[in-house]
Formats: sequence, structure tokens, C-alpha cells
Amino acid sequence: MRIHDVAPGTATAAVRDWVQGGARRRAAATIGRMKTTAELREGFLSFFEERGHLRFPSWSLIPPPEDPSTLFISAGMQPLKPYFSGEKQPPAPRFTTVQKVLRAGGKDTDLDEVGLTARHASMFEMLGNFSFGDYFKDGAIDLAWEFVTEHMGLHPDRIWPTVFAGDPELGLGEDEVAVAGWMRIGVPRERIIPLPRSENFWGPAGETGPCGPCSELNYDRGEEHGCGEPDCAPGCDRCERFLEFWNLVFMEYHLHADGSLTPLPKQNIDTGLGLERGAMLLQEAESIFDTDGFRLIMDWIERESGVGYSTSPVATKAHRVLCDHGRGMTFLAAEGVVPGNEGRGYVLRRLIRRAVVQARRIGLDDVYRLPGVIVEQVGPWYPEVVENAARVEEVVRLEEERFRETLERGSKVFDELDASEAISADDAFTLAATYGFPIELTVELAEERGQAVDVDGYRERMAEHREIS
Ligand code: SER
Repeated sequence: MRIHDVAPGTATAAVRDWVQGGARRRAAATIGRMKTTAELREGFLSFFEERGHLRFPSWSLIPPPEDPSTLFISAGMQPLKPYFSGEKQPPAPRFTTVQKVLRAGGKDTDLDEVGLTARHASMFEMLGNFSFGDYFKDGAIDLAWEFVTEHMGLHPDRIWPTVFAGDPELGLGEDEVAVAGWMRIGVPRERIIPLPRSENFWGPAGETGPCGPCSELNYDRGEEHGCGEPDCAPGCDRCERFLEFWNLVFMEYHLHADGSLTPLPKQNIDTGLGLERGAMLLQEAESIFDTDGFRLIMDWIERESGVGYSTSPVATKAHRVLCDHGRGMTFLAAEGVVPGNEGRGYVLRRLIRRAVVQARRIGLDDVYRLPGVIVEQVGPWYPEVVENAARVEEVVRLEEERFRETLERGSKVFDELDASEAISADDAFTLAATYGFPIELTVELAEERGQAVDVDGYRERMAEHREIS
């Protein structure tokens, strides 16, 4: 039996034995101070397993048919939704998982941020501990604190928790229980930052469903990463001094379509610690792309292109996008997604095409060879990627070949456009309709030369065109 084949909600006693059987062995081997990405992943799962959590590996990136809320799994809790809502009885009251997550479709997209910051990836792994009606706020806070201070070895004085500040529209006040929880374990009041709903109320993936206030752990990376403004604190959007890395969600409400909240049958915990961000802290790395988890991929890009990662802003962006999108395309194609014009296929197409555009920037041909390195990197943990390696390469190769021709022709036309004024709707339309140049690409290339695009006008032209044809 392979645990990957077990759908949430169907775990049998045999599966539970299988899962728990390895727990003691693994826990003894890895709990302690950790450094590498692999140690963090295993250390996290073992830590929670030792504290009574049932361990599961990642479920598919594609949500089950009964959950049409997102194109891809966009949070570690998503495969567990039926347990939070009370629709299904979980096989155990505590779970721990590592989940493949892709935030690249619909409103759950981080795609455009990738490449521009030290911490954004669209494809990442989310570590989580979950309680279904078992421990609640205090339990989650205690466990998180023990893990980050004793096992990750992070300095307690550098940890700044945020809490939900309250929201009159939701009829909720400041989360005083969370404040008291953090103070109880010794965090001074002034390092506990209340933030509004937009930051600290975790909404359901999709429009309706389980949700709740949350409390996020931020790590102060030091003044040298800060903007120096007196009000710089967690939530600051001017700099990358405070890195938000672990979100504790107190999942106790159901959000309805009319915006109202009702209590869930039980109070639950859903947490998400970004593996790559965690590794960045452990290794005191400048960005997630500088961690050991990405090293092999970044080295390959440098070797093949002959261009160093941080030699220029163009090179940095190209390396980061290739690294992130390379992972996304590999995981997606390994799960059987093929490039297409809508839905999941369109996202895969965008990932490959953006990667090809960025590769061209640093003189790298043959993006289809990139997945091979990613397979080497993530294969030890994700067997489905190894099993489908040949197929992934083929999918990427075909899409790349097709797109390179388009890119060459379209780039010539683009480069000849007047760079001193906004790109008109007509020009954007011609690029798309005649040269197959997607609007997202026109916008991105224009942005890089500091130029705007009349996207609304373009959309109108496109709509008229569709009507006529
Ligand atoms: N659902 C929350 C998040 O994705 C915590 O896991 O941040």
C-alpha cells in the first residue's frame, strides 16, 4: 500500500498502523537542532508525531472533485476541509502533514510576486499541525513556541507574534486569548502586534467555508534588512526585515456567502509553516533561493547560463523565476496536467512560458532540461516526480518548442514599439492576435522597461474581436 493513494477521510486502521509504525524510529533519529531543509521537514513531522499527531505525506496538488473552490491546493488545510467543517469524522484528532502547494491560479495567485522578493514562491511545501476539536489556541501556541525555540533554535527575542485586531463587520473584538497565550510563555506585550482582518483573519480557500482569526510568527531578521522607519514592525510592506513564516489559524467559524459567520461544530487548529521560509531562517540565508533546498537548481541555472544569480536585477529575477516555475511545472506535469488554454492547463502553460522568457534573458536555452535537476532535488521525498520524469521533460519540451517561435517573432515587434509612451490597446491586441503574444507577457515586458499597457482597452478589443468571429 502507498500512503499517497489514501484519500483524506478514508484512512483505515491498517493505514494508521503503517503511519504510526515508523514514528518512533524517525523521531529518535531527527529531533534536535536542525539545519537542512530535509531535517526541518522530517524534524517537524517527527516532533508533532511524537506529540500524538497522525502523520500524512502530501496529497495531490489537484483538489478532490468535491472541492471546486480552487484550481490547485493552495493551503495545507485544504485536503482536510471535511474534517474542519464536521462533514467527516477524522481518523485521529491530531494530524501533521507536509503538503505541496501551488498559489498560481485564480485569486490564490502569487505568480507575479515571484522573482521580485526574497520570500515569494508560487510552488512550495507547507508543514502543518492540525487539531480537530482537540487542543485550541493555548495548545497551538505552546507547541509552536517549543518547536521554534528549542528545535529550530530561533532566538525568542526575535520572534514577534501578530494577533487578530478585531473587526466590527464580523462582530469580533481583539483576540485577547491569543494575546494572553503569548504573554503566558513570556513574549512581552509590545512584541505582540494586532493586525486587521486583511492580515490576520484566515479566510476560506474559495468564497465560503471554515475560517478563523489567526496569529502569525514573524522573525526579526535584523535592522540591516529594515527600512529604518520608526513604525517598522511585522506587517511592514516597505522592507523585508520581518519574515512571516508560520501561521496559526484558530479555525472556529464558517463563513457564509452573505458574509456572516456561524460557529463550526468544534474549535480546531490549522497551522502552516512554509518549509522554504523556515529553512531560510535556519540557514540565515538572504532569500529562500539561497537555501540548500534550492541550491542544486540555482547552481544548474548558473552553470548552464554562465550568468551568476545576483549579478544584476535581471539575472536575479530570471534565476528565481526559473527555480520556482521549474518546480511548479515539474510537479504539475508529474500529476498529469498538460499545457492548454484554460484552467490548470493554462497555468502550466504560463509557468513554462514565463520560464522560457526569463531563460532567454540570461541566454539559457532548453528549459526542458531544468525538470531533470528538480527531479533530482525533490525526488527523494516525492516519488511521483521520479516516476514521471520522462513525461515531464516531454511535456515541457513540446511547449517550449512551440512557444520559442512565437517569442522570437513577437519580441521583434515588441522591441520596435515606442518605449516612451504606454502601449496602446491596438498594439497589445496585434501582439496577441497576430503574433500569439499573451497579454500577461506584454505587460511584464513593458513593466520591465517602466512602461504601462492599456489592458482595459485591450480587453475591450479582444471582446469585440470574439463577438465578430
Ligand atoms: N491555512 C493557513 C495558511 O495557509 C495555515 O495553514 O496560511
